[in-house]
Amino acid sequence: MEPTRRDILALGLAAGACAAVGGAAHAGPAARPAPFGAAVYLPDLEADPRLGAAIAARCQRVTPVNELKWTYSRPGPDAFDFAAGDRIADFARANGLAMHGHTLVWYAELPDWVNALSSAAEAEAALAKHIETTMLRYRDVARSWDVVNEPIPDVVRRPTDRRDSPWRALLGDGYIERAFRLAHEIDPDAQLVINEYDVEHATEYFPAKRRAFAHLIRELVEKDVPVHAVGLQGHLRGGVPIDSEELAEFVAEMRGLGLKILVTELDVIDAALPTPIEERDVLVARQVEEFLEAVTSSGPLDSITTWGLTDRFTWIGWAYKRIDGTGNRPLPLDADYRPKLMLDVIERFRRVA
Ligand code: XIL
Repeated sequence: MEPTRRDILALGLAAGACAAVGGAAHAGPAARPAPFGAAVYLPDLEADPRLGAAIAARCQRVTPVNELKWTYSRPGPDAFDFAAGDRIADFARANGLAMHGHTLVWYAELPDWVNALSSAAEAEAALAKHIETTMLRYRDVARSWDVVNEPIPDVVRRPTDRRDSPWRALLGDGYIERAFRLAHEIDPDAQLVINEYDVEHATEYFPAKRRAFAHLIRELVEKDVPVHAVGLQGHLRGGVPIDSEELAEFVAEMRGLGLKILVTELDVIDAALPTPIEERDVLVARQVEEFLEAVTSSGPLDSITTWGLTDRFTWIGWAYKRIDGTGNRPLPLDADYRPKLMLDVIERFRRVA
């Protein structure tokens, strides 16, 4: 008889417990470093040849920032537009990189026709068609997918709270399970990731959000839903303390459930950090260090991806612009592609084995 997910779960929990007690979760021969990836936005790739060269030289993975979001790839219920996604996939193929698919199901960046869907049957059909067509198109290069992105609301009152979306409105909370089952049917060997942000810090609403995320994942695993990995986006808020202890407990529990841990969108929101560049770069690197320390304390990461590679091209520059007029510095390379301290920290933690 095939072991069920529950049997594996029980084994995993035991292993996790030993690791926590013995502190030797990753003793043994040095493993291959965790693959390093960068997210890339096609207009940036096309604007500056140094960007593609830096990614090709430094990365093993690439994530399309926007190109596979529904607003880009789904002009209508029967229409797909993969022009931009294909360019990123071709860049990955040409440079021997894996592409991490971002993202199949999300509450945001949906075209009007999705927001206008009005029945469960329509929503189910749209999801199924989207997942099938998108996953099959990139099957050779995308071996991992953010199947559901950001399922937890920012302000959580109960651990069962889920973020509103057209999917949830029409299909109920079961849309999450449904999406994973569909994705697994389409590509049984792909790594299926559940991805979330703002679960890294100790203050405000972060701990409650992390607990709700854990609650959801436990529920999925108990139902034998094919979720394989937890994606921590890691849009770290500069100056806000990392919840080292609870975050370490969270990832240890997830590993105990048999899940891999990925960092999927790392950058440091430096809007509130001091102006002097050297000081700021140290604070950014330290925050990344605290975060990576916590999430590797019970085992190595499966991969680490930063949301961009160089400070020249980063969403932080417009989403969290600094008021002192100096450029944001959230990423491992500066605007002139020079490595920063943050890159050393990432390199060090990729090698935790
Ligand atoms: C961001 C992109 O970087 C922007 O270009 C876009 O306008 C909005 O989305 N979490 C995610 C990413 O999962 O898709 C988001 O990317 C950043 C937050």
